Amino acid sequence: MDQEFQAFVAEQQDDKVERGLQTLRPDQLPEGDVLVKVAYSSVNYKDALATIPKGQVARVSPLVPGIDLAGDVVESGSAELSEGQEVIVHGYDLGVAHHGGFAEYARVPAEWVIPLPEGLSKKQAMALGTAGYTAALSVHLLEQQRGLSAGDGPVLVTGATGGVGSTAVGILAARGYEVVASSGKEAEHDYLRELGAAEILSRDETSAESDRPIERARWAAAIDPVGGATLAYILRTLRPGGAVASSGNTGGIALTTTVLPFILRGVALLGADSVNTPMELRRHVWQHLAGDMRPNGLDESIAREVELGGLEEVLERILEGGVRGRTVVNVAG
Ligand SMILES: NC(=O)c1ccc[n+]([C@@H]2O[C@H](COP(=O)([O-])OP(=O)(O)OC[C@H]3O[C@@H](n4cnc5c(N)ncnc54)[C@H](OP(=O)(O)O)[C@@H]3O)[C@@H](O)[C@H]2O)c1
Repeated sequence: MDQEFQAFVAEQQDDKVERGLQTLRPDQLPEGDVLVKVAYSSVNYKDALATIPKGQVARVSPLVPGIDLAGDVVESGSAELSEGQEVIVHGYDLGVAHHGGFAEYARVPAEWVIPLPEGLSKKQAMALGTAGYTAALSVHLLEQQRGLSAGDGPVLVTGATGGVGSTAVGILAARGYEVVASSGKEAEHDYLRELGAAEILSRDETSAESDRPIERARWAAAIDPVGGATLAYILRTLRPGGAVASSGNTGGIALTTTVLPFILRGVALLGADSVNTPMELRRHVWQHLAGDMRPNGLDESIAREVELGGLEEVLERILEGGVRGRTVVNVAG
């Protein structure tokens, strides 16, 4: 491959980050055994952090952000991957220390590449993307490590209109769980009901501070991409034996809690990390996303689409918590 291609590039300059479309040459791509023609990427909260001065996410400059992508292999130095194969790449250094999905081509190490599971198109894979994968990983951890099942009682999903939140609501509801969604967006209650939420709580309620170490036990489990005071609330209100999968920090990184939920109710705090999930588990979770973890709304309401030229506006809005669901980037245009 020797042709030039379009990329959205973020470049640190003094105390600001310049971002916009540029034309790149293949020799400007990083090392890797697999060259992928990118069809779709998606916008995750972390992508926005990678393009702002104090985001503490980008580790190289200039950087092509985009922490996930789906596309076709055009060159492969790996016996496991063949030309023309449809693949997904996400996590590891992609879009943070290694050029990512916001470009027409990406070159990556073969160890980062997952064959697109049967049953998902490239566009659907990115409608799910890192956020959907993280939601599915969270469900997997709760079910496999804590034995959670649909009859156990209400499961709380926080930041419910966000990427992780919406896909978590859709996955749990499709699996028969009673889902209670918490959101700061009153105007999106219909959207959350459409995805399968049975009840909706306000963000104020689920991020309230309290001097009480435990409160009325309500949740069999929770999926929490918000963190901060919200995670503290969840720990105080999990039922005995309940568990929360914690994946994010849009509500802050500090966690102020006590040991009492752990020692009086035997609750568990599970960490969900999409970046370094071992490859076997990663493939396994994607297989489930293509099958029994396919969320409600995947083809209808979860994602909207932009092209590379529309990224700027979405990256601004996601940092303000203003984006609903997922945004797929149609890189090929
Ligand atoms: N561990 C991992 O591997 C992993 C993977 C993916 C994402 N994450 C993290 O998970 C978090 C969510 O990612 P995302 O892609 O889903 O982001 P997103 O689409 O922007 O969704 C975040 C949601 O959080 C809620 N929110 C925003 N600001 C808030 C605040 N100040 N207090 C409480 N809630 C707030 C909003 O939902 P409502 O308006 O509905 O309340 C917002 O839509 C981020 O911190 C991200 O870095 C981690």
